[in-house]
Amino acid sequence: MTQDELKQAVGQAAVDYIAPKLHRDSIIGVGTGSTANCFIDALARLKDDFNGAVASSDASAERLRKLGITVYDLNEVSELEVYVDGADESNAQLELIKGGGAALTREKIVTAVSKEFVCIADESKWVGVLGRFPLPVEVIPMARSYVARELVKLGGDPVYREGVLTDNGCVILDVHHLEIMEPKKLEAEINQIAGVVTNGLFAQRGADVLLLGGKDGVKTIYPKY
Ligand code: 5RP
Repeated sequence: MTQDELKQAVGQAAVDYIAPKLHRDSIIGVGTGSTANCFIDALARLKDDFNGAVASSDASAERLRKLGITVYDLNEVSELEVYVDGADESNAQLELIKGGGAALTREKIVTAVSKEFVCIADESKWVGVLGRFPLPVEVIPMARSYVARELVKLGGDPVYREGVLTDNGCVILDVHHLEIMEPKKLEAEINQIAGVVTNGLFAQRGADVLLLGGKDGVKTIYPKY
């Protein structure tokens, strides 16, 4: 199977996973990226079985609306039944790196409001230790150089993602060469730097379940503690 076919398989698996949990009032969280897009496309067949969605990016909101799915502002909603999104890396604890698509802050907010976070990914995202994928950090533009110097002190090698402005009007620093042995600690440390909006470690609130697509099909993986 190609990587695209694996993404389609996990998108479909996520629809099958959430279908029994949905009722007509349910509002679901929907993530961002090419894997999340496969989920959105597969979700069309369920669209009469739930109320609507909150999206973690303008791009996903537009894709949902095109399929006839109602998109809510998060401020109108007190709880989301489930959040489905991709990841750039996952370890066995289902601690993640996210933000390759620059939507990390909204993704973290939507995760926080969701009862369950279902992560979908192809097997290329499965790692022993997080950090091979450069860690995205969303930063207030005026703080970019200061935050970069602080990230160097933490052992990283930050690179400004040229030409990218997030949906929140901020910039992204991608931090290379980190070997993240304590994801929860590093997540908190980076978020303490003045000017950081948030970083792409989803460790304090990781995924509750991972649907991982590989050559033998889609595996359902729960966090290993
Ligand atoms: C966007 C994300 C995505 O979930 C992550 O980058 C994975 O993307 P893709 O499914 O395209 O590989 O965090 O900010």
